[in-house]
Amino acid sequence: MVYGHFDDGAREYVITRPDTPWPWINYLGTEDFFSLVSNAGGGYSFYKDARLRRLTRYRYNDVPMDSNGRLFYIRDGETVWNPGWRPARTDLESYECRHGMGYTRIRSLRDGVSADLLLFVPQGADCEVQRLVLSNASRGRKTLDLFAVTEFCLWNAMDDMTNFQRNLSTGEVEVEEGVVYHRTEYRERRNHFAFYSVNAPVAGFETDREQFTGRYGGFEKPEAVSCRRLPGTLASGWSPIAAFHLKISLEPGESRSLVFLLGYVENPDAEKWSAPGVINKTRAAALRARFDSDSKVEAAFRELSASWCALLSGFSVSSGDERLDRMVNVWNQYQCMTTYNMARSASYFESGIGRGIGFRDTSQDLLGCVHQIPLRARQRLLDVASTQFADGGAYHQYQPLTRQGNRDVGGDFNDDPLWLILGVAGYIKETGDWAILEEPVPFDAEPVPATMFEHLLRSFNHVVRNLGPHRLPLIGHADWNDCLNLNCFSTDPNESFQTAVSRDGRTAESMMIAGMFVLIGEDFTQICRRTGRKEMADEAQARVNEMRSAILAHGWDGGWFLRAYDSFGNKVGSRENTDGQIYVEANAWCAMARVGTEHGYPLKALDAVRDRLATRYGIVILDPPYREYHVELGEVSSYPPGYKENAGVFCHNNPWVMIAECVAGRAGQAFDYYKRICPSYLEGVQELHRTEPYVYSQMVAGKAAPRHGEAKNSWLTGTAAWNFVAVSQWILGVRPEFDGLRIDPSLPPELRNVELTRKFRGCRYSIRIRNSGRTPRERTITVNGKRVGSDVVPPGKEGAEIRVEVEM
Ligand code: GLC
Ligand code: GLC
Repeated sequence: MVYGHFDDGAREYVITRPDTPWPWINYLGTEDFFSLVSNAGGGYSFYKDARLRRLTRYRYNDVPMDSNGRLFYIRDGETVWNPGWRPARTDLESYECRHGMGYTRIRSLRDGVSADLLLFVPQGADCEVQRLVLSNASRGRKTLDLFAVTEFCLWNAMDDMTNFQRNLSTGEVEVEEGVVYHRTEYRERRNHFAFYSVNAPVAGFETDREQFTGRYGGFEKPEAVSCRRLPGTLASGWSPIAAFHLKISLEPGESRSLVFLLGYVENPDAEKWSAPGVINKTRAAALRARFDSDSKVEAAFRELSASWCALLSGFSVSSGDERLDRMVNVWNQYQCMTTYNMARSASYFESGIGRGIGFRDTSQDLLGCVHQIPLRARQRLLDVASTQFADGGAYHQYQPLTRQGNRDVGGDFNDDPLWLILGVAGYIKETGDWAILEEPVPFDAEPVPATMFEHLLRSFNHVVRNLGPHRLPLIGHADWNDCLNLNCFSTDPNESFQTAVSRDGRTAESMMIAGMFVLIGEDFTQICRRTGRKEMADEAQARVNEMRSAILAHGWDGGWFLRAYDSFGNKVGSRENTDGQIYVEANAWCAMARVGTEHGYPLKALDAVRDRLATRYGIVILDPPYREYHVELGEVSSYPPGYKENAGVFCHNNPWVMIAECVAGRAGQAFDYYKRICPSYLEGVQELHRTEPYVYSQMVAGKAAPRHGEAKNSWLTGTAAWNFVAVSQWILGVRPEFDGLRIDPSLPPELRNVELTRKFRGCRYSIRIRNSGRTPRERTITVNGKRVGSDVVPPGKEGAEIRVEVEM
């Protein structure tokens, strides 16, 4: 079954059936107000923080799933239908949902009535616009009852789902001039409220959920819609909603446009009330006035589209392969921005109440969007660094609203510090802004700020000071693989592996951190050298060399790199093991870092990955899967074989292998891996794949799982950034470096003529590549018509146009 297709010209994914294998969603908003919206119109909204400032309610793990969100019911005679099919699930004569850049449009038709619903969050406004156009395409007059409903969340999403002894008594609303204001807790410590409005007179309203659904009723067949009447109750406790009833009469050929608005408003303390007990609605009125007509909505929509055009104009390719072009030009970059905005908080898999911003996650996410939003990336790096401990370790997560490290999870993930170096190096390579190194940034709990450079130094030294018996890095609680918990020894099913207390851990070592240290250590050395810190650079280089030696002495297993030593000093990821003989991470990192090239190790390791880990749907993280729980390994062995870190295709690490293949000179293999997990190449297997065909998922079930190829956890994953790095910087080969843009493509034979444009440090590069299978030595590069000897092309003056031609 096929559920949709790409519309490249419009930068949209067009969903043509509403019964997708899983809700296929989109994100609205890029500043403070965010919404998730599914192809049925399901989803929820929040302001800045999905947990603490949730505006509308969403019931997770619900059946039927995805039946809450912004709901519109059209009652035409005895038929009741929703433009997005759910929740009534009345058959539609036509249905189409277009997810675009920051907006979603759903169009459907039933019995000669068409609905066209446009949803977006305008720039610079804390609201979601819902514009609904109803048209009469039949030959007779239509008299319709339209109901629009939204259910409020009582702000704190966690509390909202658990603390019923309190919150079933706290709900409060106000209704004024047909606008519903949600004001729970506004009397006490909150100075914010939400509202729902429509730019037309309403025939009725309701604010109490039970009055709308009927007792024991649901949103599939709400009683109020069945009896065509909203009672107009003012909610007092229980579950406040905003519901409107509009009577619409349409002559043949006539249309009616309505603008619904879900808004969020903060009032300064002194201006909370207009009269005792009455909310001051001045700001809400001003917000409504900005979007109270079609022309204003259209202008805001054009502004949003222009801003996305600008964001996507920094990198584009025309390669002759439309599946590649649409991912690179549109969807991969779009997902990178979304991941940057959301971190791992709110998706249809992440409930928005769990995690803050991860230290390592955001440092990697940045790599995918620093070319689009360098200033925001800079600020994020400063925020992240300020949660670092004075010893160079780091809080694993922090909360975006408070910018404080998260104490429940703590620190001790020994890969974390290195990602900061990678993020800052990536930022400098993109922007040339060396001044970031001198920015004052405090360490957690230290009053006097140090410089950003000092943070990088302590990050580097954190590894140097935490080496184990083989002079390889101690793993701490875990490294990038959150589930390789070599010091936990968890036997209590009630404890989380992520927060379980680790033993002192002076034995278990990580070969992934070792590989990272070599590769990222090179960046650090460069940074020292280029800022005149020669001694430090030499010192760092010596440490990197020692790490290479330690890997060669203790990290090679004969056919591939080991993954770790456990806390008894036993090998993990070795042919000596029964299960988990080979893991992908250390092989990819050591190959990227060219460790042991003189012995041919990178190629051998990559061959082993290909032979033992690569599947049709991507590279599994390890093999064979653990069949039993290993207390000395932790969560990795807790998942059933083929899922997640236990031998799933953990997409995040696949691009590391692609990059390593490019480094090793095997362009064809790199592109082959790229296509195996890239969603646009998997459109033919939508039914199996299940998740959205326009974004990466974190995990695809591995070969040991019953439904190999089935994806889960779409959208918020480091996969987005790393695939963009792999495809843009390595396969297409346009790579920011300290001195300029390196143009070093690793194109497979099938990509013969490739044209790229890249904005870089204020210049615009137009790059043409002719690929006729020359050897690297025979390659030629011309810049503005002149042959050059180096493939690093420095930027020119602000605004310069730089033409690069590569013959390869
Ligand atoms: C999740 C986490 C990430 C971790 C990965 C592997 O994606 O967000 O931090 O590295 O899992 O365990
Ligand atoms: C679990 C998941 C892993 C995730 C971690 C953090 O360990 O398997 O992917 O990174 O939780 O929440």
